[in-house]
Amino acid sequence: MENTQSFIKNNRERFLNELVDLLKIPSVSADAAYKGEVRRTAEEIANFMKEAGAENIEICETAGHPIVYGEKIINASLPTILVYGHYDVQPADPIELWTSPAFEPVIKKTEIHPEGAIFARGACDDKGQMFMHLKAFEAMMKTNDLPCNVKFMIEGEEEIGSENLGIFCKANHTRLAADIILVSDTGMINNETPSITTGLRGLSYLEVEVTGPNRDLHSGLYGGCVANPINVLAKMIGSMHDENNHITIPGFYDKVQELTAAERMQMAKAPFNLENYKKALNLTDIQGEAGYSTIERGSIRPTLDVNGIWGGYTGEGAKTVIPSKAFAKISMRLVPNQVPSEITELFTNYFNSIAPVGVRVKVTPHHGGDAAVTPIDSIGYEAASKACETTFGKKAIPVRSGGSIPIVSMFEKELGLKTVLLGFGLDSDAIHSPNEHFGLFNFYKGIETIPYFYKYFTEMSQN
Ligand code: BES
Ligand code: MN
Ligand code: MN
Repeated sequence: MENTQSFIKNNRERFLNELVDLLKIPSVSADAAYKGEVRRTAEEIANFMKEAGAENIEICETAGHPIVYGEKIINASLPTILVYGHYDVQPADPIELWTSPAFEPVIKKTEIHPEGAIFARGACDDKGQMFMHLKAFEAMMKTNDLPCNVKFMIEGEEEIGSENLGIFCKANHTRLAADIILVSDTGMINNETPSITTGLRGLSYLEVEVTGPNRDLHSGLYGGCVANPINVLAKMIGSMHDENNHITIPGFYDKVQELTAAERMQMAKAPFNLENYKKALNLTDIQGEAGYSTIERGSIRPTLDVNGIWGGYTGEGAKTVIPSKAFAKISMRLVPNQVPSEITELFTNYFNSIAPVGVRVKVTPHHGGDAAVTPIDSIGYEAASKACETTFGKKAIPVRSGGSIPIVSMFEKELGLKTVLLGFGLDSDAIHSPNEHFGLFNFYKGIETIPYFYKYFTEMSQN
């Protein structure tokens, strides 16, 4: 282990330069224009796996973007860690808000990252974090210190719903056989407070369309006489929360798993500073569901949010018009036991039922995914906890996250495997936003911590 750690120290600069090169490739999975770049990224990852010492590397074709697989089996009687990550990234727009181009990585110091952070789309989500695993593996391989078997499954469609990964898992049960899945695609509380993610929210995502007159109308000639689809949509959306910010869709909360008082008390122990929170977002105040703390609102409570809304005239100047149509994209973050398809149905029925006369409405479902909770009384959690304690010198705190990684529950259903969510990003790293970045401290800390997870997981599995 000592050799592994000194190998990491001696190769810090190279690791960073390699990540810079990887971040230069715009692997935007959502946009067909980047299809070739996505593939080029997959090929790069396969190369990195090869150089690190993995075997049986394959760029696995899917109906969409490829999955990169690689493995190192040293002894069938030893445990096997299946590492999952994604090499695809979110679109970079709005590009005009980036202080440096999204695919030209630069290192800059920030208040939170005084050692510097690497700025680029995908730096934290998830190229930078996925790359930590390849480099940790390389370090163990080059120093003859790999304690167990490892398999890598790095996909290119996480940001668009991972549809083909489910098919891949179904078709590759034997190849993917393992004892645990290890994922770094989440965050930690702050750089002084290591934490292990123990839950993720689910997701139901859909699009709505409200149609009024058969064409855009002169708002003087027709205004006041016909329903305006944008007015109507705004009112319909507005009515989906009550004065306590509860969601008004009948049945929405029926299956929500409530936490015990003890669990809520445990959650309240995590460090949180409201003033800093507001300051970081330039908010005069926060807002959310009555009866719950900010940490709870953002992790163990379900939500309904409009992600985008459009219709009518939005160009320069004024145009007096009553639009024919209004649209919105709506996401609902779900908690354990809520079933995405059921929630989509509840939403659809309700949306239809509250549509006033004079408009027609349509709901189109997009992707969804189940929430997940990961056990803390398991070898996987214990090993992650001990690994963090070794490298941070501090015990890790279990944290329920508000984000979604739908494949975590899929892995459990399809492969019968539990996942350990050992992430090193920070909420302030601006993932999915302009100026996404990843702290160098976090990048290196991740590379240093992962080999200890391997070591402790192997030791604990054998006892
Ligand atoms: N890595 C994120 C999810 C995440 C980030 C979880 C931080 C916990 C902490 C992932 O890439 C992501 O963005 N997921 C999407 C859902 C997906 C179906 C597009 C999300 O949460 O919006
Ligand atoms: Mn991610
Ligand atoms: Mn993401």
